Amino acid sequence: PSGLLTDALSRPLHDLRISVTDRCNFRCVYCMPKEVFGKDYPYLPHGDLLSFEEITRVASLFIAHGVEKIRLTGGEPLLRKNLEHLVAMLRALPTPSGRPLDLTLTTNGSLLARKARALKDAGLDRVTVSLDALDDAVFKRMNDVDFAVADVLAGIDAAHAVGLGPVKVNMVVKRGTNDDQIVPMARHFKGSPTILRFIEYMDVGASNGWNMDEVVPSGEVVSRIGAELPLAPVAANYTGETAARWRYLDGGGEVGVISSVTGAFCKDCSRMRLSTEGKLYTCLFATRGHDLRALLRAGHDDLALSGAIAQLWQGRTDRYSETRTAETRGIERGARKVEMSYIGG
Ligand code: GTP
Ligand code: 5AD
Ligand code: SF4
Ligand code: SF4
Repeated sequence: PSGLLTDALSRPLHDLRISVTDRCNFRCVYCMPKEVFGKDYPYLPHGDLLSFEEITRVASLFIAHGVEKIRLTGGEPLLRKNLEHLVAMLRALPTPSGRPLDLTLTTNGSLLARKARALKDAGLDRVTVSLDALDDAVFKRMNDVDFAVADVLAGIDAAHAVGLGPVKVNMVVKRGTNDDQIVPMARHFKGSPTILRFIEYMDVGASNGWNMDEVVPSGEVVSRIGAELPLAPVAANYTGETAARWRYLDGGGEVGVISSVTGAFCKDCSRMRLSTEGKLYTCLFATRGHDLRALLRAGHDDLALSGAIAQLWQGRTDRYSETRTAETRGIERGARKVEMSYIGG
């Protein structure tokens, strides 16, 4: 059984999200705005990144603690050279239960058509692709690097073709920017193997100038779709699922809504995050990480590392989304939250 370790609020440790690079070839306005992430932005130097060997060692310790699901993120994870080698190394790790590890990846899709086959062959199970619009002009305004919708759709098709499906598509909704794309996106993916999920725009990091007025509550997303394409709620696939699921009454499949602002899901949050440079974060909105790399590179043995991980999880009390108020500015002025591009979604 999973959940050998529980935190201070009795939540089991079940997921590990690993950021493999802090770089991205997109400049999504809600994540890496150009004004902040310009030419001179100080990305991590190569020596600061955890090596694949270090990541695999950390992952094996988490698996021993009951982690059954690992997601690779970034920045854009496919920018990390030979990422399929890491996938193969993680896939080879034994699990205490004997059940295969759920090994997935979140990508912007730009390099997916090129890499899908190698990732599948290395043992990746599934991919989640971010896509914020179906209309090219809207999408280009959001990714801010002139990237075309068709190329992301080709990546999704390639993923399905090699067996990396069913692909999930994440759409971050920003009022006044892409909310006119909600229904077209729903129509496009309805009846296809792709599962579309709408994410409420969050106040992560300290760069995106977040404002509650730009959040479209999931309730509104569901009613806007449901008015044209009738929907009914479906039970969660598993405890702690971030998305609430809705199915089309005519059998056209399902959509999901991730309500991190209007309907916090901290109660069942079982996710630890490992940053590109080997810091552990117990919450997406954390202001500081715990330097596991320092322990790794100081030559500590597995027992010591494993103990440090256990201690960190057991002391965890995070539930940011539940305690956030509309007024988050005060927090931002105090300690600076980490950027999404650094810690991964
Ligand atoms: P599945 O295993 O496919 O269900 O994926 P998932 O929902 O666990 O992961 P995914 O990366 O697709 O998460 C979707 C989005 O939900 C992320 O990009 C974040 O925006 C948001 N999200 C995921 N985990 C958390 C979390 O712990 N807290 C908050 N506030 N948001 C989260
Ligand atoms: N709010 C909500 N989702 C976000 N993502 C990045 N920044 C934000 C934000 N401010 C999403 C991306 C991607 C995943 C990695 O996180 O769109 O789907
Ligand atoms: Fe890159 Fe994803 Fe952030 Fe967009 S949301 S800038 S694709 S990491
Ligand atoms: Fe988990 Fe923090 Fe997100 Fe709550 S806000 S669901 S504790 S990562």
